[in-house]
Amino acid sequence: MPETKTPILQVKNLRKDYKIRSSKLGGKPRILHALSGVSLDVYEGETLGVIGESGCGKSTLGKCIVQLTRANSGEVIYGGNNICALSNSDLRPIRKELQMVFQDPYSSLDPRFTTRAAIEEPLLIHRMEPNAAKRREMVLSILREVGLDVQHMHRYPHEFSGGQRQRISVARALVLEPKVIVCDEPVSALDVSVQAQVLNLFSSLQKQRNLTYLFISHDLGVIKHISDRVAIMYLGTVVELCGAHEIYQNPLHPYTKALLSAIPPDSPFEKGKQLPLSGEIPSPIGDLIGCPLAGRCPNRMDLCTQTRPALTEVFPGHRVACFLYHKEEYKEET
Ligand SMILES: Nc1ncnc2c1ncn2[C@@H]1O[C@H](COP(=O)(O)OP(=O)(O)OP(=O)(O)O)[C@@H](O)[C@H]1O
Ligand SMILES: [Mg+2]
Repeated sequence: MPETKTPILQVKNLRKDYKIRSSKLGGKPRILHALSGVSLDVYEGETLGVIGESGCGKSTLGKCIVQLTRANSGEVIYGGNNICALSNSDLRPIRKELQMVFQDPYSSLDPRFTTRAAIEEPLLIHRMEPNAAKRREMVLSILREVGLDVQHMHRYPHEFSGGQRQRISVARALVLEPKVIVCDEPVSALDVSVQAQVLNLFSSLQKQRNLTYLFISHDLGVIKHISDRVAIMYLGTVVELCGAHEIYQNPLHPYTKALLSAIPPDSPFEKGKQLPLSGEIPSPIGDLIGCPLAGRCPNRMDLCTQTRPALTEVFPGHRVACFLYHKEEYKEET
């Protein structure tokens, strides 16, 4: 996706901390940094894949973008406004345009609601259509768009397969005519064969409706299949961001290289150069100085333990947060 286009959404230095108490920590509240300064742009009509290990902050980023969770600082620019600064009432019309689809459609659908009621509910909340017959038509038309039909209208979530339930969740988001959908691991709970069908549904809906997706997954195969560009996250930060093809052909960050080398041998995707990392992911609790990967990185330099590298463009459209590629900064400081 060319970066000369104007972004539909801009995330600037977004931070989200959680205050946690634990007996292991002596009962004292400690700060967990779920997002420690995330910046990225999302372009209209693209799919930006977000990948990283469990706990790196992917869901927190998605929720902070759609304002389900409020960030501690930073900005989300949408429609010319920093929507993080808007009150709940000013956010109301924007919430329709920024929707989220979750991993587990069983827990995100109310078991007491029929399909029709589940899809109608957002229309009622946003007072989009006062006429009940027209609302029914809207529900039916959306259901058909996601591959279901009139016979599914009066069934309850437990009467559907996982793939069908996810189609209902997608319909519930679509009925509000969103512009951007944050998809948080929407196929991770599904069988591989059903995953492909639901991914194809996301792709065809995107083409028909010119939707923009922020597509979160921990599965490199899924990310490669669906994304135009990819953001790699590690410990609350984006460490690399570039075109989907580029990330597999020319990965730069040592963490990206390690992640790609972990693709199983039977995967249809290219195997990256083996670059194992030592040790465990550090805890997100408390303050971390320097690069978040410094303790595990085979290319670590002194500077990496003292200063956090910024996400910097090193080739057109290819950003990386690593001092190996920011040579000028490195020379200046040493
Ligand atoms: N409500 C909360 N209270 C306290 N800590 C939280 C809360 N939500 C998330 N966290 C912590 O924030 C960090 C990021 O969590 P997040 O759910 O965003 O990760 P993730 O990348 O989506 O992981 P996964 O791949 O397992 O879904 C984790 O350390 C998590 O424990
Ligand atoms: Mg998550």
